[in-house]
Amino acid sequence: MKILAIESSCDETAAAVVEDGHRVLSSIIDSQVQEHKIYGGVVPEIASRRHCEAVDGVVTSALTEAGLSLEEVDAVAVTAYPGLIGALLVGVNYAKGLCLGSGKPLIPVHHIRSHIAANYIEHPELTPPFLCLVASGGHSHIIEVRDYTDFHIIGRTRDDAAGEAFDKAARAMGFPYPGGIYIDKASRAGNPDAYKLPRPKVEGCPYDFSFSGLKTAVINLIHNCAQKGEEFNRDDLAASFQKAVVEILSDRLLLAAKELHHKQIVLAGGVSANSGLRTHLKKECAARGYTLTVPSPIYCTDNAVMVGAQAYHEFLAGNVADMSLNACASLPI
Ligand code: KG4
Ligand code: ZN
Repeated sequence: MKILAIESSCDETAAAVVEDGHRVLSSIIDSQVQEHKIYGGVVPEIASRRHCEAVDGVVTSALTEAGLSLEEVDAVAVTAYPGLIGALLVGVNYAKGLCLGSGKPLIPVHHIRSHIAANYIEHPELTPPFLCLVASGGHSHIIEVRDYTDFHIIGRTRDDAAGEAFDKAARAMGFPYPGGIYIDKASRAGNPDAYKLPRPKVEGCPYDFSFSGLKTAVINLIHNCAQKGEEFNRDDLAASFQKAVVEILSDRLLLAAKELHHKQIVLAGGVSANSGLRTHLKKECAARGYTLTVPSPIYCTDNAVMVGAQAYHEFLAGNVADMSLNACASLPI
């Protein structure tokens, strides 16, 4: 089954054709990051306008790259929730137009489900149940994936998402947006034990995260250095911050795996591209006899291949929409 998938939930306009949930026939990503960089974050109105300009060309390119016409695909899938509402509406209405004109089935896909499904692309042998850490710019969850369309959240962030914490801390350190990857690169040259940073816990909720205190500690440290006329070592601070985030994410995930008896561990979302997190969890999972599955970095951040991967399972489960489909800024998984 060949699915044309469209993603426009944040600042990437993407389209892909995916066969049987894992075979990639094409993938196009038009990133708006350069437009948002000067504002230090995504400006929703600019994102919506850029999606409007890009979506037609991106979808056409995805079909061309796959060597297919719209008539030759079996269904159209689109990220319908959650995300920036104006951005989502562009993809949803474009997909509805394609389906209305062609009579193809319309498959709405949840963005977090797609991030998890990114793992099936390179690891089609991966089958639920498994325990997944989804850490992106907008979400940080520990999720029990009981089946392809059956999810149970067992831990969540109480404030900032992990990616948001990376981006805000990076901004305070003077890195461009989005800062996660800059912290990752700078960390390689820094001493992770140079600065003592907190690892906040949420009392009574052992699987939940809280990142705002860690982010504030970084901002205060930089502020105190400036007041004293001292320079902070950016590589050391990046490495110390990254070590703290990696420990927080890994500790909760591994505790959940132990207590809930999961041996298949999976990572997803933009932050799972982080080299420190990947290396640390690879070692820790191996030591415990767990398998660890992580997408290649290109499938960790937003793309449409993951939408096509999840859409296949949604279709098999009968989750198809009609023309009353609407985008939704927030919706539980
Ligand atoms: O999944 P994603 O592309 O978008 C959302 O759905 O939010 O995630 C983007 C987030 C950003 O916060 C970005 O800084 C972070 O993922 N990110 C990273 C790395 N690559 C992307 N964070 C840490 N290390 C990285 N290598
Ligand atoms: Zn995402």
